[in-house]
Amino acid sequence: MWMPINNSIFYDTSYVSYSIIKDKRVLRDSFIPDTLPGREEQIFQFTRALSDLLSDQPPSDVAFIGKPGTGKTAVVKNVTGKFKQEYPNLRAKFVYINCSQATTSYRVMYQLNRALGVLVPPSGYPFDVLWDKFIEAYSSSNSRLIVILDEVDLLVRRDGGRILYSLSRLNYELGGDLSISMVVISNTLDFLERLDPRERSSFEPLRIHFPPYTQPQLYNILRQRADLGIKLGTWDDEALHLIAARVAQESGDARRAIDVLRIAAEIAEDEKAEKLTVKHVERALNSVNEEEISVTVRTLPLHHRLILAAIAEILERPQVRPGTGVIYSVYGKKALSYGVKPLTMRRVSGILRELESLGLVEIKMDYGGARGNTKVVERMALPPEQMKSLLFQMGIRM
Ligand SMILES: Nc1ncnc2c1ncn2[C@@H]1O[C@H](COP(=O)(O)OP(=O)(O)OP(=O)(O)O)[C@@H](O)[C@H]1O
Ligand SMILES: [Mg+2]
Repeated sequence: MWMPINNSIFYDTSYVSYSIIKDKRVLRDSFIPDTLPGREEQIFQFTRALSDLLSDQPPSDVAFIGKPGTGKTAVVKNVTGKFKQEYPNLRAKFVYINCSQATTSYRVMYQLNRALGVLVPPSGYPFDVLWDKFIEAYSSSNSRLIVILDEVDLLVRRDGGRILYSLSRLNYELGGDLSISMVVISNTLDFLERLDPRERSSFEPLRIHFPPYTQPQLYNILRQRADLGIKLGTWDDEALHLIAARVAQESGDARRAIDVLRIAAEIAEDEKAEKLTVKHVERALNSVNEEEISVTVRTLPLHHRLILAAIAEILERPQVRPGTGVIYSVYGKKALSYGVKPLTMRRVSGILRELESLGLVEIKMDYGGARGNTKVVERMALPPEQMKSLLFQMGIRM
């Protein structure tokens, strides 16, 4: 007889003593809860902006502005998800693009085309062809379009803000039934001020600010995660208060707070404690600052991430010397599998130096060896396995 696997006694860990974590997914960055404590005001403002759709009007452009970990991505996903669910027949199409994976205007147009069912090559076409194809496809569609550009500062830093300007200008050409609204999300606070004046004058979104979380807000966020992810009765409330206090003082970054909770729970489990206490939190706070590393990695452009992924993969194979040649060849294959052209060896060497100065890798000269002197990566800021899972969470396939 077929038995679902979670009915098997081997799967059910609930009676293994000392286990504290109930659901690990809840303690991960990609988990978005149904309610977002402390962001009621932002959710209200964004929902109100989108509610123009309910009377078939184009919503205004919106900009989410706030430091890392202040709930911008969570709010955009939560609210748009609810809109789609509650109003399945709305004449609106939401397209979410993360600019850390689409750092060029070309990639953005590639994704917009794809969202409309137009398949274009991921690189190599003239930009104008993609642009025209997009207009053609969109003109014959029947929905208002809401384009969400998350981490848009990465795109603008690389390619300028012209695409924001061009997309919003399109509204003058489209028929009254069609419109393009943009939601841009940035963790550079003066992002809009950095656009050039011409772009700025035709792109004036409604600003929604995401201030750093306060201590009570962080406590509520942690409490929600503990309720969902940690077994009842296996945590001390004091422990949550301590995390909230420290993180509020440090940054007000919810990602960091949740990270500390997860690490503390893991430490408590490892030492077979019955409860997660302030003692475990103290240790988690002092452990390698995975969060800082993750923030740094998050700001890196695609090729930098692919190179890091290549290094992580190579470091896992002890018999391979992680020299620049090997890194270049593994990276090259990854780039091709992403449909992007590998950068030159020279450029990759430059990026390795950048990664070194960001503290993400340590490089040393390896003298001798059969193939002569070369630079090799000695270690990464995180164990390769952890670096891979971090990159994976950010969309880098391994
Ligand atoms: N109000 C909240 N309630 C519950 N969880 C939250 C809340 N705000 C943020 N989080 C969680 O904290 C983590 C970081 O939040 P999020 O990704 O939304 O930050 P962000 O502002 O987009 O940061 P970045 O600028 O680095 O992209 C996520 O796991 C998210 O689910
Ligand atoms: Mg985000």
